[in-house]
Parts: sequence; structure tokens; C-alpha cells
Amino acid sequence: MKIIGTGRAHPAFTLTNAMLEEILDTSNEWIVERTGISQRQIITNEKLEELAAEAARNALDDAGLSPSDIDLVICSNVVNEYVTPSLGCLVEGLIGASCPTYDINAACSGFVYALSTAEAYLRSGMFERILIVCAEEPTRMVNWRDRATCVLFGDAAGAIVVTAGDDLKAIRITANPKREVLRYERVLEPTPYITKEERDVPLFMNGREVFKTAVTSSIADVESVLSEAGVNKDEVKYYILHQANIRIIDSIREHFRQPVEKFPRNVDRFGNTSSASIPLMLDQMSREGQLRKGDKIVLSAFGAGFTTAACLIEWSK
Ligand code: COA
Repeated sequence: MKIIGTGRAHPAFTLTNAMLEEILDTSNEWIVERTGISQRQIITNEKLEELAAEAARNALDDAGLSPSDIDLVICSNVVNEYVTPSLGCLVEGLIGASCPTYDINAACSGFVYALSTAEAYLRSGMFERILIVCAEEPTRMVNWRDRATCVLFGDAAGAIVVTAGDDLKAIRITANPKREVLRYERVLEPTPYITKEERDVPLFMNGREVFKTAVTSSIADVESVLSEAGVNKDEVKYYILHQANIRIIDSIREHFRQPVEKFPRNVDRFGNTSSASIPLMLDQMSREGQLRKGDKIVLSAFGAGFTTAACLIEWSK
């Protein structure tokens, strides 16, 4: 595959740490020191599908394509107001596309999981132009009285268009079931016959365990894709990691003994936007002219499941 267009969209409302101080027993200092987050943009009156459609249109414009040129839309999403139809169908309705579409849920690893799916389709020749849209509203999964989780997240949508090409040099996706460390449970409609116990559990996270698992698994994934591609860690121009926490990013960077500028970050402004975080960063860097043809870029993500995913791409846009 090769990436021929990128796009993103953010909700309008900016929630700062100072605003959180007014509703929670927390402080700007604690949040900045433990997470690196200063503010996040969160959904108020927007619908997630509208943000997703805006990101998709921006990616299509960037690629110089119209919705009718796309053969497949893959949406990565954990939660939105519709259980069915899929977010992909909602987005197609808004942008005026009518190709096959479905959603995947690999939590924060969803973007790289979607890339691996797109690569397989492009290799097989089944589809030629694929739109990947990662749209997430994790702020609707957390308990807003739980200071340990609600300060971490932001909402956003990121999108890319891919077609056949040779950008992808190595990819690895993994899953290691660990629902005890990170989960969000909800009760479905009642029936007269349900006898099992069910619970509504807003996002539960064992922060320390998630932190350790994220660092260990990302290091293993990155080492694996570097070795598969035969690329030395110093040859990599950028390591674009899932933007969950500045300390996770720095722990991984320190392991690889790389300079700060090779690990771009925007978690300070947007918080953890789940699977949208890597396409957001790609779009931001591409539009700011930071990505050059031939740059070797590692992408690495981790999230609930526990899922992880990493790949090495060579930018050709
Ligand atoms: N403001 C102030 N204090 C807070 C707080 C907040 N927002 N959230 C938690 N605390 C308190 C805790 O109650 C605890 O207090 P105590 O010592 O009196 O019990 C103290 O801070 C330390 O809590 P702890 O959970 O041990 O902190 P931590 O250093 O592990 O940081 C996280 C918490 C969530 C920031 C950190 O574990 C983390 O980033 N984990 C990974 C999260 C992540 O990336 N998730 C998404 C993966 S896709």
C-alpha cells in the first residue's frame, strides 16, 4: 500500500486542565506531570459520524479523489451512538459513497490493524482505493467523577486514503487477552429470559499495568518490525507512537536511545484519542511539511484487549 491522502477533524470545544480543576479533585500540575496532557478537544454538540465524515473528506481532497473513486471504507471505532448500522455506513451516507464498508474494533491499535487489512486487500487485488477512517469518542466511555481516567482522553477523527504501492516495509499486529486491566462494559436491552448478571462499567483501567504493558509491548513490536525490514533504529526519521501518555512515549524513546525530535507528540493538546491518534499525527506532520519522500517512519500503537500493532513505512507522498 501507499498513503496518498490524509485528513483529520477535531471537535470545537477545548477542555483545559484548569477547567477540570473546577469539577474534580485534581490539578494542572498532576495531570501535566503524570500524562503530559494540558488540554483536549471533546465532543459537545457534534456527532462522531460528522467528525469522521469531515476527516474523510479532507483525506479524499488531499488525495485528489472523490467519494465515488473509493472501493472500500474501513472504519476503526470503539464506541459511538450507533451500534448498527456501522460507523462506516453512516460516514458513507454523509460523504456520498456507496462502496462496501465495515467497522473494526482493535481499540487504540485500530489504525495499524486497519492498515494491515488494507494491505492484504491491495495485495490480493480485490480493492484498489481504500479509505481508512479512525473516529473515536472515548470521553463518552469514562466516568466523569473518576479523576484517574476522565482527564486522559480527547475525541477526534483521522483518515487516510491508500492505494497499491510499496510504502509498507513490515507490519506486526498482536492480541493478548487481558480484560482485567482495561475494559468498558455496558448492559444491553433486557429480555424476559435473561438470568445472568450484567453490569454497566464505565471505562475501568489499571493505569500502572496498562503503562507497563504498553511500554514492553511497543518496544517488542518496534524491534520486530525493524528487524523484519532490516532497518537500523537510527535510520528511522520518526517514531510515531500512539499518543496516550508522554511518559509512555519517553520510556520507549529512552529504550531506543533516540532524540526527542524523532518521537513527535501532540498528546499535550489532544489527549488520548484512541485509534485516531496516529492518523491525526500523520495528517498534522504531512500538512506542516515535516514528512519527506523516503522518510522511514515507525508507527506503534497499543490498547484495550490488550492489542498492539506496529509497522515501518517509507513515506512516498
Ligand atoms: N489528579 C490528581 N490525583 C490523581 C489523579 C488526578 N487526575 N488521578 C489519580 N490520582 C491519584 C490517585 O488517586 C493516587 O492517589 P493515592 O496515592 O492517594 O492513592 C495517585 O494519584 C497515584 O495514582 P496512580 O494511578 O498510581 O498514578 P500513576 O502514576 O500510575 O498515573 C496514570 C496514573 C493513569 C496517568 C498512569 O498510570 C498511566 O498513564 N497509565 C497508562 C494509561 C493509558 O495510557 N491508558 C490508555 C492506553 S491505550
